[in-house]
Amino acid sequence: MMAKSPPIAVVTGASSGIGAASALALAENGWRVVLVARRADRLATLAAGIAGAGGEVLAEALDAADGAAVDAMAERVRAAWGAPSLIVNSAGAGTWRFLEETTAAQIDAMIGAPYLAAAHTCRAFIADMIAAGRGQLIHIGSPASIIPWPGATAYTASRWALRGLHEALRQDLGGTGVRSSLVYFGEVSSEYFEANPDSHEHIPSLASWIPVSTPETCAGVILGVVRRPRPVVCHPFALRLMAWTAALAPGPTRWLIARTGRRHDK
Ligand SMILES: NC(=O)c1ccc[n+]([C@@H]2O[C@H](COP(=O)([O-])OP(=O)(O)OC[C@H]3O[C@@H](n4cnc5c(N)ncnc54)[C@H](OP(=O)(O)O)[C@@H]3O)[C@@H](O)[C@H]2O)c1
Repeated sequence: MMAKSPPIAVVTGASSGIGAASALALAENGWRVVLVARRADRLATLAAGIAGAGGEVLAEALDAADGAAVDAMAERVRAAWGAPSLIVNSAGAGTWRFLEETTAAQIDAMIGAPYLAAAHTCRAFIADMIAAGRGQLIHIGSPASIIPWPGATAYTASRWALRGLHEALRQDLGGTGVRSSLVYFGEVSSEYFEANPDSHEHIPSLASWIPVSTPETCAGVILGVVRRPRPVVCHPFALRLMAWTAALAPGPTRWLIARTGRRHDK
C-alpha cells in the first residue's frame, strides 16, 4: 500500500510571531509547510530549522498583498507538492494612528496585510479545496474588529475587512467541506509592536487585564482549531469575556473603551 502524503499548509506571515510559531508547530505535527512572507533571510532560517528536524518545507519570499505574486507562488506549490488543505493567514502589519496622522502609503500597507494578503491567498487555492471537498482557512484577526478603540483607524478598518472576508466565505462555502475560521488573540509578545511603533502605548488601559499570550501559545490555539474547526475563536478567556460583554452591551463597552483609550487631547 502507498504511504499517504502529509497534508500541506500555507502559512503567511511566517517570518515572525504568530505565523512563524504556527508554521513550526504544524511542521512538528507532520504537516508540509509553505512559508510566505517578504523577508527571505528569515524564511530561510526557519526553513532550515524545519528541514533539519526532518520536516518538509518550501520558503516563498513575496509580498502577499500582490495578487500576481501569490498566484505565481500557488503555481509553484501545486507543481512541487499539490494543493494545500490548510491556509493560515497571519501576514499583518499596521501602526495605530488617527486617520489624519496616517500616510496614504500606511493605509495601503495596512489594507495590503492582513486583508489583501488573506483574500489573494484564499483566492489562489480555494477552487482546489472546493474540488477536493475539504479544506480549512484560518485568519488571524484582531479584537479591533470586535470593538474598535480610538486612534487606530486604518488598522481597525483593515481588520474589519478581514472579518468581512471570513463572514462572506462562511456563506459562500456552505456545503463545500471547506471551513473558514477567524481567530482573535489579545496582546501577543511577538515583534509586532517593534515592527509597528507608536501602537502599544495606545492600547486602552481597560485592556490591561487581558493576559499577554506568546506566539507559541497562539500556535497551540491554531493547532486546536485545525483539529476542531470552529467559526470564531477568542484567546485568552478574558478576551472572550470582553467579546461577550461587547455583544451584550455594545454601547457601554464602546464608551468604556473610548474613555480608557487614546484621545485627541492626549
Ligand atoms: N501581536 C499582537 O499583539 C497581535 C494581537 C492580535 C492580533 N494580531 C494580528 O496577528 C497578525 C500577525 O501579527 P504578529 O503578532 O505575528 O506580528 P509580527 O511578528 O510583526 O508578524 C507579522 C508577519 O506578517 C508578515 N507580513 C506583513 N506584511 C506582509 C506582506 N505584505 N506580505 C507578506 N507578509 C507580510 C511579516 O513578514 P515580513 O515583514 O517578512 O513580510 C511577519 O511575518 C497581525 O495581523 C496582527 O494584527 C497581533
